[in-house]
Amino acid sequence: MTTKILRLDTSVFSEQGSSSRLNQAVTEKLEHLYGEVEVRHRDLAREPLPHFSADVITALNTSAEERTEEQTRLKALADELIDELFAADILVVAAPMYNFGIPSTLKAWIDYVARAGVTFRYTAEGPEGLVKGKTLYLVTTRGGIHKDQETDNEIPFLQTYFRFLGITDIRTIYAEGLAMAQKDEQFAAALASVDQLVAA
Ligand SMILES: Cc1cc2nc3c(=O)[nH]c(=O)nc-3n(C[C@H](O)[C@H](O)[C@H](O)COP(=O)(O)O)c2cc1C
Repeated sequence: MTTKILRLDTSVFSEQGSSSRLNQAVTEKLEHLYGEVEVRHRDLAREPLPHFSADVITALNTSAEERTEEQTRLKALADELIDELFAADILVVAAPMYNFGIPSTLKAWIDYVARAGVTFRYTAEGPEGLVKGKTLYLVTTRGGIHKDQETDNEIPFLQTYFRFLGITDIRTIYAEGLAMAQKDEQFAAALASVDQLVAA
């Protein structure tokens, strides 16, 4: 059976970015592990999504006959992103830290993909994520050291978001101190952690 991977690179440096290189290492390891894989690879820096706006919400809430050309395009894009998410068995998502948060390109993807009634819903017992049975590899790269500290607004936020969608198997790879003297050792340690974390 083919294992489907959705890979999101979000570094402004595209494939040169440290998070993209770690994403590549995770993907290669998964290919090795599963043999038959199909990768949907989005480089959100090279091909950014349009900023999420009221136009998108209007497009979703307007009937097909009444949508403008632009609304039809936005609706198709929003549906495509959600289809890719549901189709994937495994997600590989890069989250380099930019100004204490995630890249704005990743935030745009997040805003498109959370859709009430489709990827989550509210029940009498509270919210329920509808994107189930998937594994998420989260790769984060930072110039400084933030893991488990107040300054880490990325990983807690991303964990909250993906759990809200129903994704609970989350494996995080940290490469920190990449602007510091020991950056080569730190990057090598992150690469080594890929080998340990990527397992069936
Ligand atoms: C615009 C920008 C903002 C950054 N902000 C932070 C920050 O707030 N904290 C930090 O530790 N590193 C920060 N860095 C350093 C990056 O997190 C680090 O260089 C990381 O390796 C970038 O990953 P990438 O190569 O995949 O883009 C910043 C880098 C850039 C380019």
